[in-house]
Amino acid sequence: MTYQEIFEKLWEDYTNHNPAVKNVYDLFVSHGEEVVNDHIAFRTFNDERIGIDKLAEVFKKVDYAQSGEYFFPEKKLRALHFEHELDVNAPRVFISELQVEQFSESFQQIVKETIDRIPEKMLQSDKLIYSGTVWGDVSYETYEALRKESEYAAWLYAFGFRANHFTISVNHLKNFTEIASVNQLLKENGFLINDSGGEIKGSKEQFLQQSSIKAGIINFPFVEGNQFIPGCYYEFAKRYPTSSGELYGGFIADSANKVFESTDFRKA
Ligand code: NI
Repeated sequence: MTYQEIFEKLWEDYTNHNPAVKNVYDLFVSHGEEVVNDHIAFRTFNDERIGIDKLAEVFKKVDYAQSGEYFFPEKKLRALHFEHELDVNAPRVFISELQVEQFSESFQQIVKETIDRIPEKMLQSDKLIYSGTVWGDVSYETYEALRKESEYAAWLYAFGFRANHFTISVNHLKNFTEIASVNQLLKENGFLINDSGGEIKGSKEQFLQQSSIKAGIINFPFVEGNQFIPGCYYEFAKRYPTSSGELYGGFIADSANKVFESTDFRKA
């Protein structure tokens, strides 16, 4: 498998399950833009069977290497980002994992039992990264129990392994060259911007500005019956050159901390 094939699988899954993100993509294409992907992001638990190192394996096979490390103490998360070693145009991969031991005993038990349900064969498969809820049926009662302690965990339990978001590289847009003009276009077309921490996260001085739409609401088939819950979202990133003259390639923890809230149920 090539890295392009992995991203195609992820894109197919992401757009099939989230009509709103396909609408965002189509909106930019209809304005004559070529949409280039800055990065994608995954969520997981820090169990060694499915932790960051596990999810990164498939990307390492196609020449990705570890780059930055980030901590989000408020959300009890750790993250790593990976960059392609040869192709500078390849999207970055951002993988975060929940520090499960920092939650209640009952929460830890739910997470362990969920991971125990993943078939061994799936844990060994390169397809794991786009296979969604590999633990089988998803219960609304369990979703709510997790959500009391972590919105991140509830989202992960319901959606599993797939891109949590893709990110349009604003540097590659011809007509919408500022995050503010991107946000304006989105709002004019009825999309809600995640305004936690402001509509634009980060600054030129930090070499990275980001924004995101709030996740679209999905009619989700829980075992107890359907419920409307937040799905995936689309992010937008503009990178600035550092003193070396090259565009900054990393992430800003304070900004990412707020971007995570694009799937926050109460704010969506
Ligand atoms: Ni992101």
